Amino acid sequence: MTEAPMLDPGFIAQLLPFDPFDPAFLADPYPVYAAIREKGPVTRTPLGLWAVTGHEVSSAVLRDPRFGWGDGATVADHFRSTADGSVVRPFIFADPPEHTRIRALVGKAFAARQVDRMRATAERIVRELIEAARAEAGDGPIDLMAAVAHPLPGRMQNALLGVPEEYAARFDELSADIARGLDPSFLLTPEEVARRDQARAELYGYIGELAEQRRTEPGTDLISELVSVEEGGEQLTPDELEVTCTLLLSAGYATTVNLIGNGMLALLRAPEQRDWLRAHPDQVSVAVEEMLRFDPPVQMISRVALAETEIAGQLVQPGDQVMLLIGAASHDVEVYRDPERLQLDREGTRNLGFGLGPHFCVGAPLARLTAQAAVSALSALDLELVTESPTRVPNIIMRGLAELPVRVVD
Ligand code: HEM
Repeated sequence: MTEAPMLDPGFIAQLLPFDPFDPAFLADPYPVYAAIREKGPVTRTPLGLWAVTGHEVSSAVLRDPRFGWGDGATVADHFRSTADGSVVRPFIFADPPEHTRIRALVGKAFAARQVDRMRATAERIVRELIEAARAEAGDGPIDLMAAVAHPLPGRMQNALLGVPEEYAARFDELSADIARGLDPSFLLTPEEVARRDQARAELYGYIGELAEQRRTEPGTDLISELVSVEEGGEQLTPDELEVTCTLLLSAGYATTVNLIGNGMLALLRAPEQRDWLRAHPDQVSVAVEEMLRFDPPVQMISRVALAETEIAGQLVQPGDQVMLLIGAASHDVEVYRDPERLQLDREGTRNLGFGLGPHFCVGAPLARLTAQAAVSALSALDLELVTESPTRVPNIIMRGLAELPVRVVD
């Protein structure tokens, strides 16, 4: 299991309305969120952080231009200082007009790439991964995280970006190191911070090389699109391109890994739901949306208030930090009936697992088709959990499993 950093529990209690490293919270945070929500949809911690648990208030904040990143002080660790002394922000941490400009270019490149055509690739990779894992395991257990949940998104992203085979394994390792480092630095060990920073520097280098090559020999991959994409006379600078591709890799890897892992654990714990899915294989897309709601990989989205404003009757000052607890909003009893139950054919309000508003996940179509391919293939097998409570990774923003051992019982 990944080590949790040694932090003063007193500090954590002042900063957050829960202890993210408490084993009971890691195993099941939803009763803790429910207890916080009982005090109202918005609460303030002693260190002044606003914690939002309600779906309606979270949605309103995500759509409200009075919340953003401002000077970016809380996320400056993720910025890149360039040779000419300027700073490039990953667009996930930028406000308009910078965010609007880069997002438009990336959106256009994604549209040109026609991600939906990658469905057949996802299905083929899942089949290969399952066959290889079964051949290797024989009658023994298979760890679904190592066998499918990790390699599949890695291979999909490498296909999307056109990463050559010889770099592929290294790209996956680097994406994972960066993804771990998405938690605030004070919650990470010094080794994790160093690994994240080294990984980012190495990826910038690789992507720079690939971009150079695609400039002269364009392909049909996303890097080639990003090199040439133009919108309103604007293009990405080489530094912006490296930072943007690194963001795509880090934002898309662990999230998809954990949607597959969390979703499969939930499914295997609810055999009647697995039976329903087997009887309705064409409903895998709604099933994956419910998995995203039930145990979202991204548990928290942050914002900074850019102006004096009110949320749920509370006065928020410019510079105040707001933490939207997506896991809590996804289990909000005001919005979801019986939220603690996985109900694959659930209808009604969209969950916030991919965010909302101007920063809505740009990779959602890819994430959805990747997870759907994995869930379709895995739910068709007779799998049995080896343990009811597999080990969790002690991250705060990203919720996921360290392993998911199963047995094939046919
Ligand atoms: C199950 C998988 C995924 C989940 C749960 C997820 C979740 C999210 C969430 C919650 C946000 C909003 C962040 C905010 O408002 O601050 C977001 C944004 C983003 N996601 Fe995803 N994501 C997933 C997969 C992907 C993939 C596969 C990619 C890339 C290929 C990707 C790239 C991004 C980017 C670039 C943003 C920033 C968009 C912006 O700021 O305009 N994500 N994602």
